[in-house]
Amino acid sequence: MTGNSPLGIGIVGAGFVAESHAAAIATDPRLGLSAVFDLDTPAAAAMAARFGAARATDLTELLSRADVEAVIVCTPNDTHVALAEQVAQAGRHLLMEKPLALSSSEARRLTKLYADKGLTLLVGHTHRHSAYAIAVKEAIESGRIGTVRTMRLAITGGWIWGGWGAWVLDPARSGGHAFHNGVHLYDLARWWLDSPVQSAWTCAQHLTAAALRIDDYLCSTLQTESGAAAVCEISRGERPRAASVFEIVVQGTRGTLLRTWSSDGIVRLSDDGSGPLTAVGDSPFGRQLVVFEQAIRASGPVAPPPEHAVEAIAVAEAVEASARTGDLVRVDG
Ligand SMILES: NC(=O)c1ccc[n+]([C@@H]2O[C@H](COP(=O)([O-])OP(=O)(O)OC[C@H]3O[C@@H](n4cnc5c(N)ncnc54)[C@H](O)[C@@H]3O)[C@@H](O)[C@H]2O)c1
Repeated sequence: MTGNSPLGIGIVGAGFVAESHAAAIATDPRLGLSAVFDLDTPAAAAMAARFGAARATDLTELLSRADVEAVIVCTPNDTHVALAEQVAQAGRHLLMEKPLALSSSEARRLTKLYADKGLTLLVGHTHRHSAYAIAVKEAIESGRIGTVRTMRLAITGGWIWGGWGAWVLDPARSGGHAFHNGVHLYDLARWWLDSPVQSAWTCAQHLTAAALRIDDYLCSTLQTESGAAAVCEISRGERPRAASVFEIVVQGTRGTLLRTWSSDGIVRLSDDGSGPLTAVGDSPFGRQLVVFEQAIRASGPVAPPPEHAVEAIAVAEAVEASARTGDLVRVDG
């Protein structure tokens, strides 16, 4: 369908994050949820009923529907590559939840597949569409804190990543914490510093239990091609769970941006005046979907560009390799 009719969307995987996408679709008249498919039939039926969509009995049926022009894939990380290939073969646009794949080579291959077919591919690095992240980007681009050479991003605490199901705790299925959650921070650092990450050095721990098969604490120092450094700390091990931190410090040659857990926005500290920056706005999922719709309907740019989503995976590979060896690891460009 084209013109003024809503963009018809199918959701594959009706779990935790799919709910945020479905809720965002429901509030935007430019978008419509046509159908839902999940291997877990009751989960798909419940979401379809809640949002007034059809339940597809399998992926082939969902992809053959005329009212499904675009698909959002919200399934475990190890299923992403095969599902993305099927969506592309059906000629549908794709919003793929992060990470795009569990290896940068597969991610590159998918990016080329979508480009060759002239289909939109947006990877759900949803933090890019958060008001705080946009405020930081705009503050850096305004030049008011000068040139940024260092930053720290810390998201720690049991609350932040929700329940870790069995597949998240299985490194073969999730890729581990760097692939599952670190990619959000690696993408923000690359975007804010406006330069690809070229190396990673990581300290990792099993905070919650020695028996964990993935690290629940990763602290990585990333260096960009431009020579800037970003310290990215992700953890799910702190106790009590309420003692959680989401802190951003961006240091420029003329000032600093600060976001602490207790502030509801970004504070700019600089020689020419300090004060809060506004960082409120719509749901990042809603904003992300508008970017997706505009890319499909009006050939707008996607954010992040697919090559940045590939870069985030290459950084995750380097972070995981560094966590195993303790060595500084170059990112596979
Ligand atoms: N952008 C974000 O902020 C964000 C937040 C959370 C999760 N995610 C990503 O979203 C994806 C899903 O995570 P979640 O937390 O919603 O997981 P989840 O376990 O809550 O839900 C996954 C759903 O996918 C279904 N499923 C599994 N394999 C399938 C297949 N082959 N075909 C159809 N359905 C299948 C499962 O039955 C389940 O209902 C992951 O890739 C995760 O990294 C992104």
